[in-house]
Amino acid sequence: MQKRYFLSALMVGLLSAYAGTAAAQEKFKIGLILPMTGPFASTGKQIEAAARLYIAQNGDTVGGKKVELIVKDDTSAPDVTKRIAQELVVNDKVNVLAGFGLTPLALATAPIATQSKTPMVVMAAATSSITQASPYVVRTSFALPQAAVALADWVPNNGIKKVVTLVSDYGPGIDAEKFFKERLTFNGGQVVETLRVPMRNPDFAPFLQKVRDLKPDALYVFVPSGAGAALMKQFAERGMDKAGIKLIGTGDITDDDILNSMGDVANGVVTSHHYSASHNSPLNKKFVAAFEKANAGMRPNFMAVGGYDGMRVIYEAAKTTKGGSGDALLNAMKGQLFESPRGPMFIDAQTRDVVHNIYIRKVEKVGGQLYNQEFSTIPDVKDPGKNK
Ligand code: DHB
Repeated sequence: MQKRYFLSALMVGLLSAYAGTAAAQEKFKIGLILPMTGPFASTGKQIEAAARLYIAQNGDTVGGKKVELIVKDDTSAPDVTKRIAQELVVNDKVNVLAGFGLTPLALATAPIATQSKTPMVVMAAATSSITQASPYVVRTSFALPQAAVALADWVPNNGIKKVVTLVSDYGPGIDAEKFFKERLTFNGGQVVETLRVPMRNPDFAPFLQKVRDLKPDALYVFVPSGAGAALMKQFAERGMDKAGIKLIGTGDITDDDILNSMGDVANGVVTSHHYSASHNSPLNKKFVAAFEKANAGMRPNFMAVGGYDGMRVIYEAAKTTKGGSGDALLNAMKGQLFESPRGPMFIDAQTRDVVHNIYIRKVEKVGGQLYNQEFSTIPDVKDPGKNK
């Protein structure tokens, strides 16, 4: 009798010990797909660093589960992004997919998110239509029309009437061109020419020559993060600034990651965007200091903040759902409202897109370093592309 009691007590003990380990090993998996090599590697580097900082600051358990961050390099090839996403969903059984450094990479993956009912947090790509590609997309980066329209409202009141646009020839560039042109025209300004350059390895020289001949008041540019330095260099080499042509654009061209290396040609350039590393708030100062400390002095750019806020949205949804997945996790992401290093932001529950302030900024030297200094704020901007 006593022996039997002892044995069954042992069994219960063993069983609960087993269950205990099983619970401790239960994981909340985040599949982070980024361009870590190739021409858009800076986007991957910034977002991975931000995700790791978020985990370091907020702990590696959430909703009672251990967080596993699985980082994969898609080399910025859409077929690779899609294949990796499929493997992460089927083999690793991730709770959420995240990252997406370029529009074509996000669009290639959207059907996987839909079929598997896996929330997909877009931290970088910014074409308006991405949130409509799957009901499982949630975006924490930005939408190009938000920035484009804000700048088109500013320029005609600031001595700029005649503009040439020059954009990368794919989703975000076409959004940047279309929404800027429409709004500037509505405001009484004029886009005299629209130029599009290839997204990969662009040679700006022939386009800039054309701009010189057209002599607009300003050249408005969108190029993806990382490509702004080459554009600036060629703009200066052709003496465009000396010819009195102002350079303006969305903040992608004065990306904080490379701004400081652009030199004097960048000084004074006016852009519109949702994030500057010099955004004046206690939260942002803390974020920038912690990011620089953890990454050998690297300055966070708008990609980093998209990654950091994406992790916030994922963590809070994981807390609400106790480490859930699928529709429950998705629903807990919708409507989140919080203070980001960029300022106030929320995830619109209807569109699953980010609503945030857009700032008009001017590049200035602060303590010997070039920064995008915000001087005007348009609050709570929804993507104007969603009304079409
Ligand atoms: C996209 C990529 C960028 O690097 C950027 O600055 C904006 C948009 C994109 O592909 O969507």
